Amino acid sequence: MNNGPLLFFGILVTLASSFWGLILGPQLKIGRQEIRMIEATGALYPTPRPGLAQKGAEVYRSLGCAECHTQQVRPRESATDFARGWGQRRTVGQDYLHDYPIFLGSQRIGPDLANIGRRQTNALHHLLHLYDPQLVTPGSMMPRYPFLFEKRKAAARKAGGSEALPLGAKVEPGYEIVPRPEADALVAYLLSLQAETPLFEAPLPLPPTKAEPAQAESTNAVPATPTNEVAAPVPPSAK
Ligand code: HEC
Repeated sequence: MNNGPLLFFGILVTLASSFWGLILGPQLKIGRQEIRMIEATGALYPTPRPGLAQKGAEVYRSLGCAECHTQQVRPRESATDFARGWGQRRTVGQDYLHDYPIFLGSQRIGPDLANIGRRQTNALHHLLHLYDPQLVTPGSMMPRYPFLFEKRKAAARKAGGSEALPLGAKVEPGYEIVPRPEADALVAYLLSLQAETPLFEAPLPLPPTKAEPAQAESTNAVPATPTNEVAAPVPPSAK
């Protein structure tokens, strides 16, 4: 039949609109974000990760942590993320400016890690958890990563002054478990995961946290529905 031109036109429109919707549109909208100065503090956001943490990101990638962990706090509408304590504000594109690749993740078999550097600041806790998650969270189904650690004669400690894991009777007597450099880098990366600086497009909710409802009696006790208007005056939580 003689529908060739129509068919051609139809395919063209389909391709063009999906190119626009999936590639061009997003690129115009969020593709050119820049590192910005937070007016309230004069600090740049986001700050680059320290070198060790940058290496840790590579360990995170190579071990496939993102298969089970997301790094995105979803918007207020699904308030569960906030209730779970995974973050105080939603994550936005700007949070990931320094990262490549970005470990957004899609499956939440484990908790979201966008703010794990705030939630758990103890490096030793992270190391123990990586060595054997069950030590920290009994019944955890997260895999163990013992190959990030080295088992060696405890005598070496005197020489090197290393930070052996406090495993007590779980290690053969005379031996100790010490983190390899990859483990330290990975933990540095975990500690660097913090996305709670208030931004214009993602302000912290007012009142500050649900943990301190007593303070909500002050002037603007807005029911916890943040709007963009309140973005600027929010005092940054201390570093
Ligand atoms: C098979 C899925 C799976 C993989 C792969 C995995 N995890 Fe987990 N992770 C979990 C689960 C489930 C939990 C919750 C139980 C627990 O705390 O151990 C968890 C918990 C955590 C926590 C504690 C979170 C909190 O809120 O306290 C951290 C940190 C973590 N994982 C980091 C990692 C890192 C780093 C890797 C990669 C080396 C990794 N996970 C790989 C499933 C996984």
